[in-house]
Parts: sequence; structure tokens; C-alpha cells
Amino acid sequence: MEKKDNLTILGIETSCDDTCIAILKIKNYQLKILSNIVSSQVKIHRKYGGVYPALAKREHQKNLPLVFKKALRRAKLSSKKIDLIAVTIGPGLEPCLWMGINFAKALSNKLKLPIVPVNHIEAHILANWLSPVGENPKSQTLNSKDIFPAICLVVSGGHTQLILMKSYGHYKILGETRDDAAGECFDKTARILGLDYPGGPIIEAYASKCQMSKLKCQIELPRPMIYQKNYDFSFSGLKTAVLYKVKSEKRKKKEEKFIQAMCVEIQQAIIDVLIYKTLKAARNYKVKSIILGGGVTANKELRKQFRSNVKAQMSNVKFLVPDKKYCTDNAAMVAVAGYFSFKRGHTKDPEKIEANANLRL
Ligand code: KG4
Ligand code: ZN
Repeated sequence: MEKKDNLTILGIETSCDDTCIAILKIKNYQLKILSNIVSSQVKIHRKYGGVYPALAKREHQKNLPLVFKKALRRAKLSSKKIDLIAVTIGPGLEPCLWMGINFAKALSNKLKLPIVPVNHIEAHILANWLSPVGENPKSQTLNSKDIFPAICLVVSGGHTQLILMKSYGHYKILGETRDDAAGECFDKTARILGLDYPGGPIIEAYASKCQMSKLKCQIELPRPMIYQKNYDFSFSGLKTAVLYKVKSEKRKKKEEKFIQAMCVEIQQAIIDVLIYKTLKAARNYKVKSIILGGGVTANKELRKQFRSNVKAQMSNVKFLVPDKKYCTDNAAMVAVAGYFSFKRGHTKDPEKIEANANLRL
């Protein structure tokens, strides 16, 4: 197939607990999301306080054909109109990844379509290309030239990485978490506080209640590794610090105000470290933009503080963060990443496509 720009791409994402399928149409560098279905398994995994891989795999297998039909219906499209399949091959939970890959292979075989394998982390970065750059609705990102080099911060449930992006497909990991990812820290803290899974959105809601009531936050948590010379992170100590505070103030554990104050402080501790290290990398590498991605970047306070810090400290640097609905796992980001890989000629013989739980950029 020639590397044309008029393409209808089917994206498939099953790296964790959400079964996601999206259909993207690209015509003359203009991008249109025809459908973007996310079938969440959160209710099933909630009782385990996290994702239970064997169960997630079974749910993907059950959901994929249904989600595929729904995506076609929503897009008002016949499967014959699809030109290309993009599927996440890693990083993620291996049994879950295989479900998406096997589904992609079966479709490719049936519809005689090429497949491009997609890296989940790259997809989180390229989720920014699903909406216009920054605040300017007129700038169409598929054509954006003035963005690189860029510093990308990917913060999700499984990853926290600072990446130097020189151009499409050219990445260098500058630093990453040595233990828990930032999203994991939100999730584990929520569990300690007796809150639901996933913890990020719940902690955000409690924190915002506290901020609205202008309650003074009496709790102080550390900012791990913030002033170290590297670009690495460590969040597991934060969760332990929360645990000690909860234990030492046992009586207060269930008190609403205590939980709210803890949520404000844990959220702020994570935000402080992420902003400080990302801006330091942006300064040192003299980049043109800062690009965020991953579930944690759906956090309103993080988005607000990042934006204002970039504006105040480096007004010439562009700041990109995906639309909230494209921060957490979805298949539209996989389809757009597939588009850029396809343009670079990265289709792969379906027989040779395999899941790689530890895939690196
Ligand atoms: O990118 P994602 O959907 O899945 C992975 O690739 O892991 O990220 C999920 C993570 C979870 O840890 C969740 O708690 C966190 O993103 N998250 C948030 C928010 N929404 C999701 N963290 C903070 N604030 C949020 N609003
Ligand atoms: Zn993700």
C-alpha cells in the first residue's frame, strides 16, 4: 500500500484494564475521530484495589468483538472502509496485550489489512495530536513543525518517564521512576485512605473539596528526589509516608477533613516534583515545547499549575497537554501513533507481531 495520507485507521488498545477501539480518519493531514470507545472494567477490578490480569484478559476477550461493532456503528462505517490496523504491543500486562494483538491479527487476516505495532508510551505522547495544539484551535497538529525538540512527561499508572523527543519516532529516555509510578502512588495512597480505585480522580475530588473550603493543610509530605541532579523519580516513599501519618493519627483516619488534607498534600507533592524536574529538563535541553501525556495528566490541578509555571518561567516554550478524555487509556491515541509509524513504513508481518510487556521507547 502506498503511504498515502487519506487513511481510515482502526486503533486497538488492551494494555491494561480498558478495552478500547477507535476509528480515525485522516484526510489531507486533517484528522477526524469517527469513534472512540472505551469499555472500562473498573467496577470489576475495584474490589481487588487494582487490576487483576487474568480477569482483565478474560474481559478483553469478551468485550473486543462487541466494542469493535460499537465503534463501527458509532463511526457509521463498514469494516471494508478500514485501511490500516494499529495495535498496542507494549508496555503493559502481557496477557491483556495478547488479546488486542490476536484480535488485530484475526481482523487483518479477514479483511486483508496491514498492521502497525504501537508503543503505548508513544501513543500517550501523540494523544496531543488528537486535538489542536494548546489553546489555538486553528493550528492543526498533524502538520506542526515548530514543536521539536520537546520534553515529554508521561505519567500513568505504570510509568513515569521524562523523554527527549527530537522528532517523530526519535526518543531518548532521560529519566524515569525507580519504583512506583505517579499514578500508582495516587492509587496506593487512596487504598491506604480507604478510598476507591482508581485513586487519582478520587484524590483529585477530595483535594478540590478541601481547597474550596480554604481549609489549611496541616500535613507535610516529602518531595522525593526533587533536587537531585538526575531526571529520575521515586514515589514509593511518599505512599509510605502517608501510611505512617495514617498510623500515627489512627483516630483521624476516617475523618473527612483529615482525608481531604492528605489528598491536597499528596497531590501537591507529586505535582511539585513533576513540574520541577520537567522544567529543569526543558531548560537544560533548550526545547521548544513541553508535552504531557498519560492518565495522571487528566488532573486539573496538575494541568493548571504546569501551564502557569511554564508561562511564568519559560514563556517562549509551548505547553501541550491532551484533552482530558485522551489522557487516560484510549484507542484514538493508538490510531494516531499508528498513523505516524505507518508514514515511516513501520507495518509488520502480522505473523511476527508479539506482545512485549516491557517494551521501551
Ligand atoms: O494512562 P492510564 O489511563 O493507564 C496506564 O497506562 O497506566 O493511567 C491510569 C492512572 C491511574 O493510576 C489513575 O489513578 C491515574 O492515571 N489518574 C489520575 C487521574 N485520572 C487518572 N491521577 C490523578 N488525577 C486524575 N484526575
Ligand atoms: Zn496508559
